[in-house]
Amino acid sequence: MSVSVLSAAVIEKVEAEAGKYPSRRAAVKSALRYAQAEHGWVTEEVVSAVAELLSLRPIEVFEVATFYDMFYTQPVGRHPIRVCTNVSCKLRGADRVVQSLCATLNVKLGEVTADGRFTVFEAECLGACGGAPMMAVGNDYHEDLDPDTVSTCLANYT
Ligand code: FES
Repeated sequence: MSVSVLSAAVIEKVEAEAGKYPSRRAAVKSALRYAQAEHGWVTEEVVSAVAELLSLRPIEVFEVATFYDMFYTQPVGRHPIRVCTNVSCKLRGADRVVQSLCATLNVKLGEVTADGRFTVFEAECLGACGGAPMMAVGNDYHEDLDPDTVSTCLANYT
């Protein structure tokens, strides 16, 4: 594998990040974030390229990619939906939000919609407990969700 799967812009950003720390390993999450933003998900080639760029073994990068749920190691829709199902959100109807989204989008958890727009995931606390139940669509937070109307939040995501 080669770092060539990463664009010059991604490599430049990773190098800038790596320069902030005494160890290049410290930039692995940033590298995965930049690469995922460009590729849509963390492919095996991305893992190998990030490893080469940061002088790590691919397994060390893969461990990070699979530990954090904001990294996707399988193809996902253009707008991944992460529904918090942790305590506050669960108590306020998160399970019904998940059911409603999956039914409306005609997918199971982790599947890509037929139009390639969405994938629904359950997520741990996203730090917006005061707005429970909530979900993140990409980087956008939607709070105080109503399971019966939650799909209206998705209209502007193409
Ligand atoms: Fe859902 Fe914290 S429990 S955002």
